[in-house]
Order: sequence, then structure tokens, then C-alpha cells
Amino acid sequence: MARIFSGIQPTGIATLGNYLGAIRNWVALQAGEDDCIFCLVDLHAITAWQEPTALRAQTRQMAAVLLACGISPERSILFHQSAVSAHARLAWIFNCVARIGWLNRMTQFKDKAGRDREAVSTGLYVYPNLMAADIHAYHATKVPVGDDQLQHLELANDIAEKFNHDFGSAFFPRIEPLVLRESARVMSLRDGARKMSKSDPSDQSRINLTDTSESIAAKIRRAKTDPAPLPDNVAELTDRPEARNLVGIYGAIMGLSPAAVLAEFGGGGFGPFKEKLAEALITHLEPIARQTTEYLDDPTGLDTLLIAGARRASAIAEPIVEEAERLVGFLTRSDQNL
Ligand code: AMP
Ligand code: TRP
Repeated sequence: MARIFSGIQPTGIATLGNYLGAIRNWVALQAGEDDCIFCLVDLHAITAWQEPTALRAQTRQMAAVLLACGISPERSILFHQSAVSAHARLAWIFNCVARIGWLNRMTQFKDKAGRDREAVSTGLYVYPNLMAADIHAYHATKVPVGDDQLQHLELANDIAEKFNHDFGSAFFPRIEPLVLRESARVMSLRDGARKMSKSDPSDQSRINLTDTSESIAAKIRRAKTDPAPLPDNVAELTDRPEARNLVGIYGAIMGLSPAAVLAEFGGGGFGPFKEKLAEALITHLEPIARQTTEYLDDPTGLDTLLIAGARRASAIAEPIVEEAERLVGFLTRSDQNL
């Protein structure tokens, strides 16, 4: 039995992209053999400025969304990162194992820092070391991520290898990415070339999992398309990113291939197709939005779940990180016989 670990930043409201690209896969993984640990990575979130009150609210909100989507607090461990100190402790050790040259190659840092490289936080720079610590603190070996995170997972393997080499042990196992299917990538409703993102300034570009049915219907009605009718075959979607995106979303929600979607709607206009798409989304997302509200209406219940999750997470991570600390040469409780 392997251990699965994944994380999501509690910044902004989860989108349909997060749901189809990540959360839904997490829910499916829970049904398998492996232990699942899902973490709201608030330490990662503060690598960019977060309004403190908003961060607290968004941490509860993301927990509520995950539970509403079907993450089970019994089958899985769900908690927020800052509640388990092992993450930060192991991340510090990894800051001293990883090399500056390795971090300099991280394309996500380059993208996020942009031209402001001198002004971003040092946390943003060592972000991948913390991500490696998240995973290795549990000896997790399977990590579901989008393809944008693959470079970080390679780095996590490099760190583990150097740690094992430097401290003469085979302590940290290799990790294996579970890459989410390319077809699960949802694009912006305003621009088929950009990913749907919770940080996009335009709310019209995305479906939030907390949107009302009216709002979902309006966003789909206004979604960018092109003037031609829907094509009869998938090859003709290649140069039509907006059409491809909407067909992809409908297929992902209904469990149909793009070819099957086109078999039904090919040759028709976008109007009737968009109506069906909005209907499918509302049927699927309305219960999620409703349950999210129910969880949020009971913050004490939500916090009780998160605290219980953090206790279970700590029980796994504590002995692993303490052993890493011992290997490094820290005087740990196991040496002190007290
Ligand atoms: P983020 O919202 O960037 O913190 O991503 C959290 C998780 O959702 C990651 O596993 C991403 O790969 C996934 N994700 C984010 N946006 C999308 C999208 N538009 N389509 C598919 N997956 C996404
Ligand atoms: N960096 C990941 C993202 O932006 C989130 C994350 C943090 C994560 N720690 C992790 C994902 C550990 C997998 C494993 O999507």
C-alpha cells in the first residue's frame, strides 16, 4: 500500500478547472488501496501577499469545497499545512540540502517572479523545497499534480537523493507523479489559450464552485466562441480553442469523449449546445455549492474536522521528520532518554 499526498493553495475560490483537473481525481483516488493525504497549503500561500483575514476565511472555504466535492475526512486525511509543524522543520533542512543552482532552473519561479525578481519574497524562491518537504514528511510516493508541477517533483527527488547520499541512508523514497490527464485542462471562458484560474482578474473567465445556478448559466451564455457551427469531428477543433474547451468541459462533466459530444452536437450552433452545457454544469455543481454553504455555516464543525486531520497527519509526519533531524545531527528526543 502506497501513500498519496497532494496539496492545494487556499487562495481564491476553487474553480471548475481545479475540480475537473485535480479535486475530482483526488476523490477517485480515495476509493483505491492507497492512503490519501490532502493538504491546504497555507504556508505556500503566503509566498505571495495574503490579507490575513482573507487567508483564514479562504482556508475554511477551501476545506468546505473539498468536503462538498466528496473528499471524505474518514477515508482521507484533510488538514491545513501550518497546523503540522513538521512541514516547516523539514523544509528548513531541505533549504540546506537543495542547491541554489537547482532552484534557479525552476520555471514556475521565473514565471511568477517575472520582471520583479528582486522584489518577490524569499519564500517564493524556496517554495519547491517546502513542497518537497510536504511529500517527504509522510514518505508519500505518489503525488497527483498538474503537468506544471512536474519540475518541482523532479526537484523533490533530487533533494531526497542528495539527503540520502549526504547522510548515508536510504531514508527518503523516490516519488512518482500521477500526472493528471491533459484533457482535464480547463481553459478560460474568455480566452481559449489561457488556463481557467482562480487568480484571473475577470470573474467571467471562470466558473467558481460556489457560483449560483443563474451565474453559471450567464457565464456559459457569454462564453467566447467563434461564428462557425460545432464541427462534426474532433480534428476540426484543433484551431478553435474556445469551441474545444466547451466541448471538453461538457465531455468531462458527462463522462463522454469529445468525439461522442460532437456526434451529438456537431453541425449545430452554439446556442443550443451552451444551454445543454449550462444545464449539465448546474446539475453537477449545484449540490457542491449547497454543501459548501452547509459546511461554512458550521465553522466549529469544520474546524473540528481540520484539527482531527492535523492530528492524524502529525502522527505520521512527526516520527519521520524526527528521524530526519536525527540523521542530520540534531539532538533529538530519541538521544535524550528523558
Ligand atoms: P492552483 O489553482 O494553481 O493552486 O492549482 C491547484 C490544482 O488544480 C493543481 O493540481 C492544478 O493542476 C489544478 N488546476 C488549476 N487550474 C486548472 C485548470 N484550469 N484546468 C485543470 N486543472 C487545473
Ligand atoms: N505547488 C502545488 C500547486 O501549486 C501545491 C502543492 C504544495 C503540492 N505542496 C504540494 C502539490 C505537495 C502536491 C504535493 O498546485
